[in-house]
Parts: sequence; C-alpha cells; structure tokens
Amino acid sequence: MTALLTLLHQPKVVAFDAYGTLFDVHSAVQRLAARIGPDAAAFSALWRQKQLEYSWVLSLAGAYRDFWDLTQEALDYAFASFPAVDKALRPDLLAAYRSLSAYPEARGVLERLQAFGFSTCILSNGAPGMLADAIASAGLTDRLDAVFSVDAVGVFKTAPAAYQMVCSHFGVAPADVLLVSSNRWDIAGAVAFGALAIWVNRAGLPREYAGLDPVATVRDLNAVG
Ligand code: LAC
Repeated sequence: MTALLTLLHQPKVVAFDAYGTLFDVHSAVQRLAARIGPDAAAFSALWRQKQLEYSWVLSLAGAYRDFWDLTQEALDYAFASFPAVDKALRPDLLAAYRSLSAYPEARGVLERLQAFGFSTCILSNGAPGMLADAIASAGLTDRLDAVFSVDAVGVFKTAPAAYQMVCSHFGVAPADVLLVSSNRWDIAGAVAFGALAIWVNRAGLPREYAGLDPVATVRDLNAVG
C-alpha cells in the first residue's frame, strides 16, 4: 500500500479520468506532427480546449451530444482556426484519437491497485465506443473492473450525476471513492460531489478552484499506487 493511500484511510474504489489522465490527448497530433507543421502543439491545445468547452456548454444547456461528436466538431474548429493545417489529415487524426497512447506508468499503477484489493475503474466524459477503442489499444482492459461513460446519464462531468455512477455501481458512498484526474476542473467536480481526489499535475499548472481541493497533488500516476 502506498503511503498516500494509507493516509486516505483506504478508499474502496479508485476511479480514473481517461483523457489526459490515463491517455495522452496530445499523442494523436504528436504522431502526425510532421505533417501538421509548426502549429501542431497550438492546434492540439485548441482541439482539446474546444472539446471540453462544448461538453460544459451543452451540459448546462441541457443539450447533450456524445463526446465523439464533440471531438469531431472541435477538430473542425481547430482546422478552421489554422488554415495552414491540411484538412486531409482529419481521418488520420480521428483514427489516432481512437488509439491514444497511454502514459507509460498507467498499466503498472492499475495492476498494483488491484493487487492491493481496490476496485479500479474509468469514469470519463468519453463516448463508450471511443473509450473501448482506447482501452483496448492501450492493453488496459483486464486492469479495469468497470468503465463508466457519462453517456449513460446524458450529462458531462462536472455534473454530480456523472460521479454518482461509480457509487451506484459499487454500492459505496461518495467518500469511499478516490478520483484520480489530471483535469483540475474534474477534481473540483468530484470534491463538490463528496469524493476524495488526487490531482495529477504533470505540467505544474497553477492552483485554482479554491475550496474544492484535492487531498494530494502528484506529478504522475506512480505516486497513486
Ligand atoms: C474524460 C476527459 C474529458 O472525462 O478528460 O476522460
């Protein structure tokens, strides 16, 4: 057992965010960077930013559409914003997004948590099909006890209904769930719901969402399990 999990009085379920936490969302663009050109990093950042913005705006508006739809719409926005990037790359970028690279430590951490007796799962805004593809291509299928897509509740994180799926499935209280996420907004949602959360702050981003704080901030997944 890691010192961190002992300190947390051993939550029963460890839930991982998918995109940005287990899977590197920028690996799709990075694989095709030579064909995208000098704007590759900014293009990838805008693609991600718009994908997330659409998820929050549509949730607040009560106009849910699944995350794969939003991923495509956000990609089209990025193409429109960077006219020098060749639109013929669209199918290759979308295919790459279905098989994003997992962070190198992801599988080992999930394995160790299962060996310690925790239930492991993904709780993601991703649509079921895109999650299934990413999990299979990263070889993580047997390391996850469950995979929850918000598609089942028709509203994106940070809505409480999204986090509630984990509690309902495992029959546990919010305080028995530890969410591990690299997305600070996701940590805020989980903590507002009553769960514990660890923020994987790979990029050393500044603090935000005061009052909805993680119990710990780590640089990569290894500190978790
Ligand atoms: C997830 C993304 C949006 O929920 O980070 O997996």
